[in-house]
Amino acid sequence: MGRNQRRSHNILITGATDGIGLLLAKAYAARGHQILATGRRSVADDEAFFGTPSITYVTADQSDPEHAAQTITSTLSELGWKELDLVVLNGAVGWVGPPEEESTGKISEQIDINFKAPVHFALALSPLLFQAKGRLVFIGSSAITKGRGGFATYCATKAALDGLVRSLAEEWRGRASVSILHPGPTRTEMLRKAGVDPGWKRLLFTAPKRVVKAIQVSIRRGEQRRILSRFFCFRCRFTWFQEGRL
Ligand SMILES: NC(=O)c1ccc[n+]([C@@H]2O[C@H](COP(=O)([O-])OP(=O)(O)OC[C@H]3O[C@@H](n4cnc5c(N)ncnc54)[C@H](OP(=O)(O)O)[C@@H]3O)[C@@H](O)[C@H]2O)c1
Repeated sequence: MGRNQRRSHNILITGATDGIGLLLAKAYAARGHQILATGRRSVADDEAFFGTPSITYVTADQSDPEHAAQTITSTLSELGWKELDLVVLNGAVGWVGPPEEESTGKISEQIDINFKAPVHFALALSPLLFQAKGRLVFIGSSAITKGRGGFATYCATKAALDGLVRSLAEEWRGRASVSILHPGPTRTEMLRKAGVDPGWKRLLFTAPKRVVKAIQVSIRRGEQRRILSRFFCFRCRFTWFQEGRL
């Protein structure tokens, strides 16, 4: 059976306890796929938390990238998964404010969680991705295109992923697909966790379920790089292109 025909696929999603990652995990589970979800918090009862038996959760704190990567690979081995059809490296944090006020601790934290951890995960998971000729998707940010103030280190970590993807896509051509999708401002709790209340501007942000639909459409299309603009997310509401595929 071809990779894209209707069958249950093995999917790993990081940062799947909230926002975009949580909705994406639930959306793929609803399509009959098996999900390994990761995040920083502990979850006592996976099925009660995610509302489905198709999602298994493991705590893998990305602030310790090597340990998190080891935790994920040993969990995959315990699950008996020998291949991965799709990996979405989504977990991230932000810090917002004038760059000269950003502490070295916050700079290091974002570099570890947003950049080093996805690199470690990508390398550690590559054998399972190659086995399935699977797809590795990084979640970036459209902030890298506009040079927005207040997000200097955050933007730098996402721009670094953008560069990494170009290189990995070449390196792994024929063995696994590698892509990066850059959402725009999205109505999740990410900014509040970074200590910022966007106020009325939040109303202008795209709804997370629209971003999740756009991510799925872009993955089905096999796009290597896509800015998930408001317009693209809107168009995806009416896109049923290869809807049954991964
Ligand atoms: N929201 C936006 O406006 C926006 C715009 C552009 C790009 N993005 C990108 O979209 C992705 C998802 O963001 P979101 O808006 O859905 O944010 P979110 O709601 O805050 O979700 C982020 C996820 O990452 C997890 N996470 C944070 N720190 C972690 C750590 N140390 N170890 C493991 N997991 C950790 C969070 O866990 P907890 O549940 O414990 O917090 C949560 O599950 C991120 O890559 C973000 O950079 C977001």
